[in-house]
Amino acid sequence: MSQRTLVLLKPDAVRRGLVGEILGRIEKKAGWTISALELRRLDREVLEQHYAEHVGKPFYEPLMEFMASAPSVALVVEGERVIEGVRALAGPTDPIAAAPGSIRGDFGTIVRENLIHASDSEESAEREIKIFFPGLA
Ligand code: PPS
Repeated sequence: MSQRTLVLLKPDAVRRGLVGEILGRIEKKAGWTISALELRRLDREVLEQHYAEHVGKPFYEPLMEFMASAPSVALVVEGERVIEGVRALAGPTDPIAAAPGSIRGDFGTIVRENLIHASDSEESAEREIKIFFPGLA
């Protein structure tokens, strides 16, 4: 089942020079294609749309502040079961609970600075792609 998903390489991934490493892991999966990619500092308006479901949660403000602090890389990845697949590559939210071999398990320690966001469903993917790449069909 071919799908598409919205991925963010968060400010910690860019700052630490991990973009090539993480993109390489995504690119190497058979049949997956990066169909859009942009480096940019995310403004509050975009982040409010993206994280709308988390308003009021204790981590909301720290997360917004962190995500707006420096540039991120936004990309769209297409391919077979890519929604589940990128989340499997990323590992769980808490990097300490993430298995070695996953992106968060290999490179993360702090929950807030967990390197990567990936859409969690087809509905989220379509909503998020519109926020970051409104020109994509
Ligand atoms: S929830 O409540 O289960 O939906 O939350 P979860 O999916 O675990 O996380 C939602 C996003 O919030 C980020 N997060 C945090 N950021 C900063 N500090 C803390 N403590 C924290 N806990 C969760 C988490 O990485 C998710 O962001 P994205 O960008 O979707 O990965």
